[in-house]
Amino acid sequence: MITVTRRERFNAAHRLFNKNWTDEKNESVFGKCSNKNWHGHNYILYVTVKGTIDQETGYLIDLKILSDILKEKVTSKLDHKNLNIEVDFLNDTITTAENIAVKIFEEIAPEIAKHNCQLHCVKLVETENNFVEYFG
Ligand code: NI
Repeated sequence: MITVTRRERFNAAHRLFNKNWTDEKNESVFGKCSNKNWHGHNYILYVTVKGTIDQETGYLIDLKILSDILKEKVTSKLDHKNLNIEVDFLNDTITTAENIAVKIFEEIAPEIAKHNCQLHCVKLVETENNFVEYFG
């Protein structure tokens, strides 16, 4: 198997909050991640695509195409935004790294599939020490 990975970065605000819970329960489960006045992360996103090498171009996917998909579908919507209230595809989602990775995967998989390859993994780095990976 051969894969190609593109890295993108975005900065965004959020808070972890379950709207079905009381403020007290949110605070006890999510702690400072549930701060009412928000907090932010410098997210790093790794998008890995798999497929076969096109014999004419030598590419699995043209990275300009992958970069354009990620700009249109992800970073233009998330960068410098509040993930809880400003992003259409995160509505009604608890904005954990896990959920954000799954939603990004769902947003971009159909676009990537149009280019004769397949989305393999979305890796989202939230802090220096924490990241999640979603394989669909
Ligand atoms: Ni956070």
